[in-house]
Amino acid sequence: MELLSLLCALLNVLAVNCLDAAQERIVGGYAPVPHSIKYIVSIQTTDRQHFCGGSLINKYWVITAAHCNRGLNNMVIIAGDYSLSIYEGTEQEITPHLLIPHPGYNSSTNDHDIMLIKLRAPVYLDGYVSIALLPRQGAPAAEGGLCRVSGWGYTSSVGQQIPSTLRTVTVPVVSAERCNGSGAYNGSITDNMLCAGYTAGGKDACEGDSGGPLVCEGRVYGVVSWGRGCAEAQYPGVYTAVSRYRRWIDNTIFSYYSRCSNG
Ligand code: ARG
Repeated sequence: MELLSLLCALLNVLAVNCLDAAQERIVGGYAPVPHSIKYIVSIQTTDRQHFCGGSLINKYWVITAAHCNRGLNNMVIIAGDYSLSIYEGTEQEITPHLLIPHPGYNSSTNDHDIMLIKLRAPVYLDGYVSIALLPRQGAPAAEGGLCRVSGWGYTSSVGQQIPSTLRTVTVPVVSAERCNGSGAYNGSITDNMLCAGYTAGGKDACEGDSGGPLVCEGRVYGVVSWGRGCAEAQYPGVYTAVSRYRRWIDNTIFSYYSRCSNG
């Protein structure tokens, strides 16, 4: 009798673990090879709670979403991470020195949802940390082209669980016309946004993935911004269209470097 209940308890634990392992994260995605996405960063509170993603675009700068702005003293950037719950020895923790949300950011329409973060110290580029490429100014993301979005965000809009390891999922670019249609976002998509997802839903970014990279043709074309729920049919994920900001990004970074060298 005793033995039987022990066995049941054991089976229970195993079953739960099996379910856990099968559960998909980001939404509908999978775990990439550890440390294969080297430009992604986790943005955390000072007590080390992950709340947004970002991408390193050079040793001193990260791009993320403007809605990830929680104030300079409340944010820590972690590069070289994979599992948030395990210390892997590959992590580099850097505090931000400057937050530059886009001056046009509008939190009610989500327009211009992009922010540059200057780091207090440069990241050290190694086998775990590298830099992402950006698209050229105005370069369109090919409609139907497959892109990859990654992050430590919720694995479903209902479970509301932050996974401890990085997840990634492939989604196609949806035309602005379709995304803005009456069956979808009905006019809320501006020229500064990019949609990606399947008509049937099932694969998407979710809460906690914000600020993270949507990579198409090897470049960060999108920054995770918003969506209706997560992975819902007819409602693709909405991203900030990074190619609309290439000039702003370059000019901003350049202006801080020249300020620096002029003393
Ligand atoms: N706003 C969310 C965040 O702060 C990201 C939402 C993305 N949603 C989506 N369905 N793609 O993490």
